[in-house]
Amino acid sequence: MESVLTPPIELSQRRSDTIARLITSSYEKYMDVNTVVAWNKGIDRKLLPKDPTQSWIYGTLWWDILTDEQRTEVLWLETARDASMFITLETSLPPLYVGYINRYGDALPRDVYEYMMIFSKEEINHTLAFRRYMKMAGLKMFRPADGIFELLVHKLPTMHPVSGMLVTVVLELVAELAAMHATKGDNIEPRTVEMFHQHHEEEARHIAFGRLIGDAYFETAPEADLAQMRGLLRNLMDRLIPQFTYNPEIAEHTSFAFPIARDDHAAIAAVRSSAANQALNAKRFAPLYSWLRKLGVCE
Ligand SMILES: [Fe+2]
Ligand SMILES: [Fe+2]
Repeated sequence: MESVLTPPIELSQRRSDTIARLITSSYEKYMDVNTVVAWNKGIDRKLLPKDPTQSWIYGTLWWDILTDEQRTEVLWLETARDASMFITLETSLPPLYVGYINRYGDALPRDVYEYMMIFSKEEINHTLAFRRYMKMAGLKMFRPADGIFELLVHKLPTMHPVSGMLVTVVLELVAELAAMHATKGDNIEPRTVEMFHQHHEEEARHIAFGRLIGDAYFETAPEADLAQMRGLLRNLMDRLIPQFTYNPEIAEHTSFAFPIARDDHAAIAAVRSSAANQALNAKRFAPLYSWLRKLGVCE
């Protein structure tokens, strides 16, 4: 069954051509789970999976009191949260996008329809690769961030498809900007670098697609729809950035007594707003903030 899409997704020729190029490059080059990472070389948990100065607690007294061994453990747990976030997100995106396809069918521009199918296929593949990475590294899944799973699985399927695509691209930008920022130095554990960087090649296409759809929507949709969309994205950012910056669940996973208890709300608020985290977020998320400013979502 097909519904009318209101407002429709209207793309200029230039934007349609860009999606056509994304489609072509997706068929030419794609992630193969067996070869994406040199799995046979194993993962060395003694090496660091990310730049230690980008730990959630770096620059606070809670970092200073840890031993080197404890710091390494914390960095691996932070990486486990990031991989868990990818797995949760990427497991919920294919049903969301294929759901839009079933619902709106030919009311979607033809190239958008095709790219959403490719996108869904790629996310399932990413989930399989991240699950293998977690298993090999001996890492446990973190629970989904509060409110975001609910949004993806229950709310967005009933909303305009551009809502789903814009929430997706914001989540992808946060995850990708952080992952690339954290793994660009030397001496990072090589399988982790391979996993995140290979994944990024496909995510860069997803992000290009999401931004393109968002830009087109903000140029063509009625003001009342834009106001709603801005509200949705503002709300998402308000929930996402604090949870991404520091996830209290880490206290449940450490082999030692973690210095910030799961329910120590004052310490959690302090670490989320530490000078180090504010500077890190301003730097790594600068491209996201500047795009959201352009769309009028934030100041
Ligand atoms: Fe992905
Ligand atoms: Fe993606």
